[in-house]
Amino acid sequence: MKTRVLFVCLGNICRSPTAEAVMCKMLQDRGLDRWFEVSSAGTGNWHVGEAPDARATEAAKERGYEMSDIRARQILENDFKHYDLVLAMDRSNITNMRRVCPSGCLSKIGLLMDYVPQAVLDEVPDPYYGGEDGFSLVLNLLEDACDNLINTVCAQKRIEA
Ligand code: 4NP
Repeated sequence: MKTRVLFVCLGNICRSPTAEAVMCKMLQDRGLDRWFEVSSAGTGNWHVGEAPDARATEAAKERGYEMSDIRARQILENDFKHYDLVLAMDRSNITNMRRVCPSGCLSKIGLLMDYVPQAVLDEVPDPYYGGEDGFSLVLNLLEDACDNLINTVCAQKRIEA
């Protein structure tokens, strides 16, 4: 059984598509991709159908992550039924998601950075209105978080990681 993971941010053009790309590459590199299904979505609809932000794509590419094929989409009620883990970049994403999440699925919603208790930040900050440094910080946080997320799921499911 695959563990289905959905990463969620506001626009689905900066943080959550980057999380998707980082997670997919880590799973491939570790030979674990058959155990997971990974995607991303935004709570907002402003960028639906768009490719990820060019700054995010560039920063990801510098570290070997490919995200040019991803297209933004808005999270739907059905996503909460389909995915096992619906992981937000920040707490405002959680507030927004609770408005559309069926009550029986609320326990699937979590904060991604909760997988890194020792992290310098407990949320992935929105880089959209900031400088280039923001995208590098996002990548640093996401690399730690995805690594720990993979290890946690594999330990829970007794998958050899
Ligand atoms: P994301 O970043 O939530 O990481 O994709 C943002 C993208 C777009 C906007 C805000 C944040 N926006 O306001 O359009």
